[in-house]
Amino acid sequence: MDLKIALLPGDGVGPEVLQQATKVLEAIAQKYQHTFSYQKGLIGSVAMDQHGQPLPEETLRICADSDAILFGAAGDPKYDRDPTAKIRPEQGLLSLRKAMGLFANIRPLKTYRALAHTSNLKPAVIEGVDFVIYRELSGGIYFGGQSADDGQSATDTCRYHTKEINRITHLAFKAASTRRKKLTLVDKSNVLETSRLWRKQVIKIARKYPDVRLELLYVDNAAMQLVLAPSQFDVILTENMFGDILSDEASVIAGSIGLLASASIGEHTALFEPIHGAYPQAAGKNIANPLAAILSTAMLLEHFKLYEEAENIRIAVEKSIDLNISTPDLNKTNHFSTTNVGSFIRDFILDEDNTFYNKHNIDLGQSTII
Ligand code: IPM
Ligand code: MN
Repeated sequence: MDLKIALLPGDGVGPEVLQQATKVLEAIAQKYQHTFSYQKGLIGSVAMDQHGQPLPEETLRICADSDAILFGAAGDPKYDRDPTAKIRPEQGLLSLRKAMGLFANIRPLKTYRALAHTSNLKPAVIEGVDFVIYRELSGGIYFGGQSADDGQSATDTCRYHTKEINRITHLAFKAASTRRKKLTLVDKSNVLETSRLWRKQVIKIARKYPDVRLELLYVDNAAMQLVLAPSQFDVILTENMFGDILSDEASVIAGSIGLLASASIGEHTALFEPIHGAYPQAAGKNIANPLAAILSTAMLLEHFKLYEEAENIRIAVEKSIDLNISTPDLNKTNHFSTTNVGSFIRDFILDEDNTFYNKHNIDLGQSTII
């Protein structure tokens, strides 16, 4: 298969982790005879530095002209201390989501047995956790903020239309029917009007999916249940802001936010990204975990029905975890660099049998794969 991929490394550790992701994609291309071509675009604060805006026209053109987008991160702490800044790097990602009509952000989470000790939660609590969050991405309180001319008040309006609710709800039910057939709607319908609209629509749509059990949960309770008994979840469906917050919370279950990949799909080109963000403290140090970015490429391949290829990446990632070939977030005592983890995964995909020697060489610090 020929795929044109827009590469948007962005800020912070984005470039480092995307480099590992493309290394892995190239191994897949070589092994399964695909051709992936890449077009690089600027986004976030690096785009602001060069073009004065976080999403330049050129980047939009590249994305519209591609089959898929691989995104790194957007955000720079230099803007965090200036709440009056007119534009922020994050707006690049928000505008891109809007421009591509990306309305569903899919964030899968499962625990790896070998990492049970790295989670802050007890091994018995996280055993067998395997769920996916369907976060609405195009509406809600993220859009429609205003501040008064006198600078003394500000408003963020949470607005949802049934059309926006329905389209992601169908996707989430379809996913649940291929999984463990349970869908949990997370809302705050005891307080919010938009949540009551969500609940009404989701209950109506549930009748079309009789094999899927619908559970209704308030967001405050969901936040608690996620760390109390996360294995109860299969598909979690929720609006934009709740999904943003809950998915970061959920990342502690896996042991590191550096493991979580995501896909954003919608009307135009789909986008794939690690959920960890820019992580500026780690930028340029070759210590960021590349697994979330690498697993995002597995989601990308799956999007094009390249299931075997995607599975190959997941198996290689699992192997790296089992062998503790991991960055410092997962391996405190004898950690590996971002580059080495990526290289191990690439080599494992290309030639499984060489794994032992690679590890041996890495241990000796004589790796040819650095
Ligand atoms: C995410 C991020 C973004 C969001 C930011 C960077 C705008 O936190 O993808 O979860 O809030 O959606
Ligand atoms: Mn977030």
